[in-house]
Amino acid sequence: MKLKQILLGGTAVFGLALAASQGLAAEAKEGKATYDKLCASCHGADGKGNPAMAKALGEKGLNLTSKETAKLSDDDALKVITEGRGKMPAAGKGLSKQEQKDLLGYVRSLAK
Ligand code: HEC
Repeated sequence: MKLKQILLGGTAVFGLALAASQGLAAEAKEGKATYDKLCASCHGADGKGNPAMAKALGEKGLNLTSKETAKLSDDDALKVITEGRGKMPAAGKGLSKQEQKDLLGYVRSLAK
């Protein structure tokens, strides 16, 4: 491969990565309103967990910025959000697919 081709290829990859990250940022912003309304009471506005709620529920799993949450696949995370798990209610049950995607994008953005 010639140098010029390598440079062009690199620019294209960079452009794609940039477009993808901008898409994610837009999703994350959309998801914030939903998160603040449905999730922040337990998981905290910053995703680290509302301490008062953690105490009331006797629950340590409220931190969504944790390594454990990062390890959850999107499908598994959405299952918890829409079906609930343990002491978590099915808080995101009525959300459209797009709203769920936006919400998850926002939750993931909190962990960064
Ligand atoms: C009434 C409090 C409450 C509300 C409201 C709530 N959650 Fe939760 N959430 C929990 C609890 C408690 C757990 C831990 C459940 C368990 O241990 O199985 C949890 C777990 C999770 C997990 C899995 C974390 C992991 O690492 O396994 C995700 C993802 C999550 N919540 C997202 C959300 C989102 C998004 C919303 C808003 C739509 C929300 N939660 C609303 C209490 C809540």
